[in-house]
Amino acid sequence: MKLFLDTAHLADIETAVGWGVLDGITTNPTLAAKEGLAFHDLIKAITDLVDGPVSAEVVSDEPEEMVRQGHTLRAIADNVVVKVPMTRAGITAGSRLVADDIPINVTLVFSTAQAIIAATIGATFVSPFLGRVDDVGNDGLALLGDIVGTYAVQGYETEVLSASLRHPIHVVESARLGADAATMPFAVMDKLFDHPLT
Ligand code: G3P
Repeated sequence: MKLFLDTAHLADIETAVGWGVLDGITTNPTLAAKEGLAFHDLIKAITDLVDGPVSAEVVSDEPEEMVRQGHTLRAIADNVVVKVPMTRAGITAGSRLVADDIPINVTLVFSTAQAIIAATIGATFVSPFLGRVDDVGNDGLALLGDIVGTYAVQGYETEVLSASLRHPIHVVESARLGADAATMPFAVMDKLFDHPLT
């Protein structure tokens, strides 16, 4: 399982790159807004630090505008993956971006049915939000297991990117269940190192 950071904080990204454990980045407009840099400059700075996939999200409700933004984001660097929401508009835009050879990450996924839609349009990543499923009293890890199992039965090539992770057990269980990648806040990655006997 690949380890991604869910952040736009450049100092944390540099630290994880230094550890040699960072396979990619996911970010979103909320995380980016905290950094005080223009969004495109921030994505450029992240892609300068990280060789693996860097997911950057479009911000619109209109497919045409999402496609336009997706092309602009992808023009920043070859490792940019365009994040689109799991909505009808997002999937409309996503399928067009895939047709244009732009890799996409379908985000805000909360059901296996939605994950099937993401795989059907040829998404590179699908992002089920485990922590937010837990927040509403459902079982995020059970959802992840169901998506991984369904993808295996169908032979879908879309990679399952376990997201909205809140603690190390979310990461460990994501690996046990067969997620292709897990994206987490820096604080969660940092905790993966620790054990009182070490
Ligand atoms: O990558 C998904 C993430 O940004 C959402 O995490 O903790 O806000 O549910 P959280």
